[in-house]
Amino acid sequence: MSKVDVLLGLQWGDEGKGKIVDVLTPQYEVIARFQGGPNAGHTLEFNGIKHVLHIIPSGIFHKDKVNVIGNGVLIEPCIFRGEVEALRERDVDATRNLLISKKAHLIIPTHRMLDAANEQAKGNLRIGSTLKGIGPAYTDKIARSGLRVGDIVQDDFRERYELLKYQHLQTAFTLKFDVDSFRIDGLTLAEYEQKWLDSMATLRAFKLIDSEYYINQCLAEGRKVLAEGAQGSMLDIDFGSYPFVTSSSTITAGVCSGLGVAPSKIGRVMGITKAYCTRVGAGPFPTELFDETGARLCEIGHEYGATTGRSRRCGWIDLPALRYSCMLNGVTDLFVTKPDVLNDFDEVKMCTHYLIEGKETDRIPFEYNSVPIEPQYATFKGWKQSLQGIADFDNLPEALRTYLAALEQAVQVPVLAVSISPDRKDVIFKNGK
Ligand code: GDP
Ligand code: IMO
Ligand code: MG
Repeated sequence: MSKVDVLLGLQWGDEGKGKIVDVLTPQYEVIARFQGGPNAGHTLEFNGIKHVLHIIPSGIFHKDKVNVIGNGVLIEPCIFRGEVEALRERDVDATRNLLISKKAHLIIPTHRMLDAANEQAKGNLRIGSTLKGIGPAYTDKIARSGLRVGDIVQDDFRERYELLKYQHLQTAFTLKFDVDSFRIDGLTLAEYEQKWLDSMATLRAFKLIDSEYYINQCLAEGRKVLAEGAQGSMLDIDFGSYPFVTSSSTITAGVCSGLGVAPSKIGRVMGITKAYCTRVGAGPFPTELFDETGARLCEIGHEYGATTGRSRRCGWIDLPALRYSCMLNGVTDLFVTKPDVLNDFDEVKMCTHYLIEGKETDRIPFEYNSVPIEPQYATFKGWKQSLQGIADFDNLPEALRTYLAALEQAVQVPVLAVSISPDRKDVIFKNGK
């Protein structure tokens, strides 16, 4: 009997999950996504190619490994087809090693319209959604009116689809949303709908399974399973900076409901953090830098969204947020990515705690969005050297090792590995493996 190991983001997403899952895949037999959908953008780089995945797990380039889209994930058939075709151009036939849960919910075109309508209605309070239909599709799931992947082969699918679409159009009307002017990828709703319906054929070419049975069978046979998170813990629907969050459970608990595994079957929980911090979209970000340092982080770190191309907000690493994430997830191992972005900095800072209304705290307050938070910093000497070519942890510059040791100490979780470039080959494991 084996357990499901988990790899997830500890910040506001884009920590480098895709890259690390790709690197870890050789150690596993099955890679499974458990939540989120096309709002995710997971970047993999190897052999001079750069590839971004949205719905498909990041183990897909390893042809001998099985990838699973779990029941907790949302699938948008058009985007999915685009991903399958992009993989085919790289000689990867996903139909061979990708299994899809029949219970995964579908994003229909009007979910995407409603995402835009909701954001428009929120005005200044808009979340900065990726506009992929995530919120509305999870809303329908919870409201028990959603459509699932397994439904596409049922006779009444089209009828149910039309009913749901009708309800969405009613809502858009109530929100005074201009449906006629709405476009998805330059297409009207009717044009996009046709494309969406055509994309169903791609979905049907895949093995649609009861993934909860499959995953539990794998565990019973002692096969190694890795669960790949999307977004980050600070975007979690319950514990993130609500309402500036995504609509799924992005934490370890989400693995249980998103794959159908019992809590006792969770093994290691590997959490990823950047050596600094980014956020895309609206919402609190206490350590955000509005100065030249923030601009440098953005530029050197190429901090532009892998899904939307928006520039990411940048700042120093936030220990109260990181400790909170480690607590919620039960993180056993830490991956630190992108310290190379800080190579030229004279000094590097770490927010150790917050000052809120004159009081020191290391907790995330309920009033996260509304109270002024003054981050308090510890300052570290920069390492002022390139990390290129370094293969052993002990050969990392001393100043960087000091920084990492302080991080370990602060969150009470050991660093398992450090990533020093976007490329698959540049991950340095502390124990050498
Ligand atoms: P994900 O959503 O967590 O998979 O992360 P994204 O792919 O959205 O964003 C991470 C970005 O950082 C991608 O462009 C990666 O290629 C890049 N990246 C990952 N690890 C490193 C690293 O160690 N150093 C640098 N410089 N870039 C990295
Ligand atoms: P990966 O998996 C960073 C953010 C959006 C927005 C909020 C809600 O690549 O780390 P949604 O479309 O889910 O309704 O948007 O969450 N967001 C992400 N930010 N990385 C992501 O995914 C994200 N997925 C959603 O910017 O603020
Ligand atoms: Mg991303």
